[in-house]
Amino acid sequence: MSMHHPNKPPTGPGIYDPRFVSDLFDRMSSTYGITNYLSSFGFSERWRRQCIAQLDWSAAEAPVCYDLMSGMGECWADILRQSQGRAQVIGVDISPEMIKRSRQTAARLPAGQVQIRQENILDNDLATGSADMLISTFGLKTFSEAQLEQLANQISRLLKPGGQFSLLEISAPPNRFLNILFLFYLKNIIPWIGKIFAGDNFSYKMLGVYCARFQDCRPFLDQLAREGLQVEFRTYFFGCATGVVGRK
Ligand SMILES: C[S@@+](CC[C@H](N)C(=O)[O-])C[C@H]1O[C@@H](n2cnc3c(N)ncnc32)[C@H](O)[C@@H]1O
Repeated sequence: MSMHHPNKPPTGPGIYDPRFVSDLFDRMSSTYGITNYLSSFGFSERWRRQCIAQLDWSAAEAPVCYDLMSGMGECWADILRQSQGRAQVIGVDISPEMIKRSRQTAARLPAGQVQIRQENILDNDLATGSADMLISTFGLKTFSEAQLEQLANQISRLLKPGGQFSLLEISAPPNRFLNILFLFYLKNIIPWIGKIFAGDNFSYKMLGVYCARFQDCRPFLDQLAREGLQVEFRTYFFGCATGVVGRK
């Protein structure tokens, strides 16, 4: 990638290079929890819970549930709770540091219920038709349009026929006033908080760059539909997060 001013986040196509994204999360791993909480106005935990609640957990006896871009395993306790301990979770993430932290999360959960895979989801070794359920929270924004197309293809490939999925991402709300507030918050307040808490202004600015480009889940919904999946659009808190829920 070309050189950039340390205070100006890069915006070229290199920001979607999986290595760049993985390094970014490696660097942010120590402060990821707080950023994520703040960048969703403190809503992140509730949105994860609501995303997981979109799935009909009674559909399978011991559902295999993929958690894509699983980070530090933020969703796992909720998946186990909502499935009444029946789900077999497979967390997939590319960042070695996030994976390391997710092992600590898994260690606090009942033994043997979570498997962790360090993989690039766009080029993975996961078995075709192996998922009863599939979720992903806050892991879509760092993909380009072309990569989202590959991701849609992978989601369709991983799901069993009848398998369900629920995906969620922070989004630009349609309401003008909320939208201005949201972008100001992402582009100014979050980097400022990042600087104070983590001494890292750059990584936090990237979050604003990715979110501003991603906008919302609607284009991804169309890409999933083109894979032949049944899809429904969801909004959370006036569109500050959006999601896709569906079935194969
Ligand atoms: C914003 S975090 C979301 C973590 C978690 N799901 C949550 O709810 O907080 C995005 C995660 O996606 C991972 N990621 C980004 N690109 C990926 C890829 N190509 N394959 C697998 N994981 C990826 C990053 O390493 C990071 O941990």
